[in-house]
Amino acid sequence: MVKDEALKGKWALVTGSARGIGAKIAETLAGRGANIVVADVMEDVAETTAAAIKQSFGVDTVSYVMNVTSAESVKGVFDDLQKKVSGADILVNNAGITKDNLLLRMEEDAWDAVLGVNLKGAYLCTRQAVRPMLKKRSGRIVNIASIIGMMGNAGQANYAASKGGLIAFTKSIAKEVAERGINVNAVAPGYIRTAMTDALPEDVKAKMMAMIPLGRLGEVEDVANAVSFLCGPESSYITGQVIRICGGMLM
Ligand code: NAI
Repeated sequence: MVKDEALKGKWALVTGSARGIGAKIAETLAGRGANIVVADVMEDVAETTAAAIKQSFGVDTVSYVMNVTSAESVKGVFDDLQKKVSGADILVNNAGITKDNLLLRMEEDAWDAVLGVNLKGAYLCTRQAVRPMLKKRSGRIVNIASIIGMMGNAGQANYAASKGGLIAFTKSIAKEVAERGINVNAVAPGYIRTAMTDALPEDVKAKMMAMIPLGRLGEVEDVANAVSFLCGPESSYITGQVIRICGGMLM
């Protein structure tokens, strides 16, 4: 069931879209008529998500096992996509992980893993995705950052550095490709209601809530709607920007 046809015929690749925020972004873009590439390390879940989107929205979907930290894995997917559909028109760099700890307890592998997925992953995927976009002189790239990348957070130095880096990356690439009709933006979610935040103890949730002027956690739809806006024709004069989706937590 397509709700609007603004993205009809476009192919959108969303990394880490087997579940969570990425899956909702993929669904929302499909709801505007986009064909969807689900690319994730979780093979079975990615297949199920792609099939469910096809079934619900009647768009074409395909799923790939892709590890965003591996140049070879990323290149394989984009090469195949180039052959099949002449490349993606929209890239959403959503795959992300956390490995939280205070600095003195943060091991090097936790630093490397988080920077690897959240920042290097976006670099590798963008570098591949941008080639056909440059030729077509059109494209949209949206990076899923976090307000933690703007305000910092004790116990999340690796995550904050990766998301702050992703914001700087967004602005640099936006400047590089603007003259070729490619818009590059980021969204910075605050606390979004997911399995992870549901599992937090009540007192932690209460403290979080006290910091959010709108008085609720964000929903995955709140993030997906902003991404959809940044992928559609209504945002054609917006590039290099970061939209905060945080209920006013960071102003
Ligand atoms: P999630 O853990 O539910 O989903 C992340 C997806 O990325 C999973 O499907 C996972 O398999 C995939 N993934 C992990 N490593 C990968 C890799 N190396 N290659 C390909 N795929 C990989 O997480 P969630 O909450 O949906 O987060 C999505 C994005 O939103 C992340 O970038 C996260 O940092 C960001 N974010 C989330 C917030 C929240 O409150 N949940 C707040 C702010 C930002």
